[in-house]
Amino acid sequence: MTDDALIALRPWEAPEVTSWGRLPMNAVDRRSGALPLDGDWCFQLLPTPDAPVGGAWSSAYVPGVWTMQGTDDLPQYLNVRMPFPEFPPHSPAANPTGVYERELDVPAEWAGRRIVLQVGAAESVLLVHVDGRPVGVSKDSHLAAEFDLTGLVAPGSPGTLRLTVVKWSDASHIEDQDQWWHGGITRSVLLYATDPLHLADVTVRASHAGELQVDCRVRDAGGALPEGWYVSGELDGLLLAQDAEFDRFNREDDRVSDFLGEARLADTVPDVRTWNAEQPELYDLTVRLHRADGTVADTARHRIGFRDVEIAGRDLLVNGERVFIRGVNRHDFHPLTGRTVSYDDMRADLITLKRFGFNAIRTSHYPNDPALYDLADELGFYVVDEADIESHDHAHEIADDPRYLNAFVDRVSRMVLRDKNHPSVIVWSLGNESDYGANHDAAAGWVRRHDPTRPVQYEGAAKLDWAAADDASDIACPMYAPLEECVEHALSGRQTRPLIWCEYSHAMGNSNGTLADHWAAIESTPGLQGGFIWELWDHGILQRVNDGRPVGRGGAGLYDNGVAAPGHRWAYGGDFGEVRHDGAFIADGVVLPDRTPKPVMYEHREIAAPVRIECFRHEGIVLGNHQHFRGLDRLAAEWELSLADGRTLTSPAELPDLRPGETAAVPLPFELPEDGGEAWLTLRVTTAGDEPWAPRGTVVCAPQVRLREAVPHVPVAVRNRSVEVDDDGLLVHPLLTRAPTLSLWRAPTDNDELGGMAARWRDWGLDAPVRKVAHIRQTPGQVTVHAEYVSEAGVVRHVQVLTAVEGGIHVAESAELPERLDDVARVGSVFETIAGLDLMEWYGQGPWESYPDRAFGAPVGHHAVPVDELFTPYLRPQESGGRHGVRHFTLSAPDATGLTVVLDEPRQVGVSRYRAADLTSVTHHDELVPRASCAVHIDAAHRGLGTASCGPDTFASYLVAPGVHRWSWTLRAL
Ligand code: GAL
Ligand code: MG
Repeated sequence: MTDDALIALRPWEAPEVTSWGRLPMNAVDRRSGALPLDGDWCFQLLPTPDAPVGGAWSSAYVPGVWTMQGTDDLPQYLNVRMPFPEFPPHSPAANPTGVYERELDVPAEWAGRRIVLQVGAAESVLLVHVDGRPVGVSKDSHLAAEFDLTGLVAPGSPGTLRLTVVKWSDASHIEDQDQWWHGGITRSVLLYATDPLHLADVTVRASHAGELQVDCRVRDAGGALPEGWYVSGELDGLLLAQDAEFDRFNREDDRVSDFLGEARLADTVPDVRTWNAEQPELYDLTVRLHRADGTVADTARHRIGFRDVEIAGRDLLVNGERVFIRGVNRHDFHPLTGRTVSYDDMRADLITLKRFGFNAIRTSHYPNDPALYDLADELGFYVVDEADIESHDHAHEIADDPRYLNAFVDRVSRMVLRDKNHPSVIVWSLGNESDYGANHDAAAGWVRRHDPTRPVQYEGAAKLDWAAADDASDIACPMYAPLEECVEHALSGRQTRPLIWCEYSHAMGNSNGTLADHWAAIESTPGLQGGFIWELWDHGILQRVNDGRPVGRGGAGLYDNGVAAPGHRWAYGGDFGEVRHDGAFIADGVVLPDRTPKPVMYEHREIAAPVRIECFRHEGIVLGNHQHFRGLDRLAAEWELSLADGRTLTSPAELPDLRPGETAAVPLPFELPEDGGEAWLTLRVTTAGDEPWAPRGTVVCAPQVRLREAVPHVPVAVRNRSVEVDDDGLLVHPLLTRAPTLSLWRAPTDNDELGGMAARWRDWGLDAPVRKVAHIRQTPGQVTVHAEYVSEAGVVRHVQVLTAVEGGIHVAESAELPERLDDVARVGSVFETIAGLDLMEWYGQGPWESYPDRAFGAPVGHHAVPVDELFTPYLRPQESGGRHGVRHFTLSAPDATGLTVVLDEPRQVGVSRYRAADLTSVTHHDELVPRASCAVHIDAAHRGLGTASCGPDTFASYLVAPGVHRWSWTLRAL
């Protein structure tokens, strides 16, 4: 075929063509010993795939997306809608096509060897040419494609390799995942050599009983089986049972033209150390292909784990245990490189997850880089490996379209063939949001026959009837199904298979309300086993504000703690001038774009606590081990007693020897002082030694129990001091620049906006009610102000009783919400302080941000955080920085002046450099201008956060009800 012939075939509009000239997928890792071809390549971007290649070359870095490397083709964010109107299998005429070229220097010593090109990933169609000769085509943007270049390249003399990458194709219609659209070669390119007769595949089965079976395939594209060759296996340096001679191979095909043979090694490992996510024990397996004289012709290395996965009734079992799936959905993402993620970044992702109590990953929505699975094996994660199929916009047409049948089976089977030897992979997923059709059944059939050792899941199949037993999913894996429906199903007696959300608790902006309620139900309801939070990343791309360009690879150091450097911002949908886009819906992760954990991560860590305080009884504190496999031996702990009067006492803790599921009582570590008020006991649990994912002393969890209730605070009124108010009845106070008024509003969160609540609040006028003073009554040492807050929704009556008390002013308030205001953001006071108060110290839950329905496990104690750091820089500014369960707090300047507030009961408090109106008036964090003062909110009631941006809202119990709310607080100067 000539150069142009391949282009003339227009493979980008032929869904039946999944590849041409591509080698079969296999699980033999060829990365070590390979010749890397990463680096700067000659590059040009054509307007269409059939445009002539010009003479003007620029350069592009491989691996990388051109959309973030200075071209005019920029990233575009769309969720469901395709970026072009053409129906499948068509693509638009304007179709950016990247031509990558470089010289190939094949080492002279590779002469006589089989030479293979591996392109790690390219989206969406890859065409390969060597010296102008067409070599092959590949689709499937998240799996490697290999091509045999033997005979096309001459070892020792240079040749030219051209990789043409067509952005839009028939394949785009099944790669319609909710993420940025890019184009480019996103994973490494390499060249390797083998003997002509080589290990073509290795399939490992290793059970938790220690049985090992290794199936080896050898192939010679042009030869026949030579006499006497054999394979051997070594496990952690020990030779596996007898070598299998080729004669014992089951020859599938020994035609001289293409020899393929199979041999099996089988052994049993005594006292095997089994693999699980808590104790990811791995063994080094080396498989060697020997020539007749014993010399080694080929080697395959695997790190394998002995473990079983099975479904028993409605439980998914790992090594016989019903493990909880504390999962997250992970996209490949980096703020500088888009879809290209380095090994170090993948490792950092997984380490972060491990430190925050996650044990599972769904590779939403495509197979990841091979290194990710190595890391999951090593660090301990259960992986749901998902095929690169999402036809969201045209789901119904494609699911049964036979033109796409091949692509479905190809994508699923290639994933399975590549990843089958990873102990971390416990479930295969057929893809995402592609309706359900015959193409899925075909793919499921392939997997079930080829790998009966793992279940298959597909949300689109199971959603038709969670209780069905004969569809393409072995697991009911709903998305965002409300908790009560799941519980009801589990209790219905109809459940036939495990229920594990493939997506739940949508993390867009300030979100993840009711996560702890979900886990309370999961842990107490047989049949519920966990799920995967949507999602790990806020996909904000680092962008220069002045020219709107992505910063790209050179941008390391241009962000810190979740915030982009001045002149930069985290771009979301629409920020690259896209006309069609889905805005900030791309920012829906539990980490900010630089992997700074959002507050929900800390809550998750506590929800997943391996050690818990079950209760406090007369005989002491009852501790429980909530792991599935491990004892408490690799954990250290310390007790901390936190008293409301400001004292914190610590003492070393001895963790009892507990097997999973066991509990034991330990004596109370402290004699509780008679005085000191409310008392909380915390067990600070840390890693006892260095772990691969955390150095010694890293916090694992901090379970807590209250030992003594609070003593009510009774302020003592003084009559000899007056309270000053202005003509409007507003408090005049030297520490306040804005007097306390009533607040019914918060800067809407993404959940508030997309769930429709914010629109109602605006319709009601709650963002700017008009305050009218109805009545001011003054008596010695006390002022009572009756005000009305008038809005579209009616009148909210507000009463403030300001009383001079010892050292300050006591403020007792009430607000009466008419019935119509049946769901508001908050009811409380808001005021502003003088400038210079930079430090917030409080007794209450913390130190991280918390809200009524996201306050689990933030320990009650004495916390101190600079005011600037209270705020979480959510990409689209919104309500942020709140702290739940605050009993008292101070705001102080470095010279220790400032104010203190004592609350009548634990309340939601927000201290911020921004007013709610500041936050709502901008679209990106970089537009915010911090005020010198603090805007302080004290809430009688604050609405839960829920997850309504995509999924259920908060529970009714976290809503702010109409009627009368009362709260009081005391303000004192320090
Ligand atoms: C799901 C989908 C994800 C993402 C999420 C919303 O429906 O599978 O890819 O779009 O919703 O953020
Ligand atoms: Mg989708």
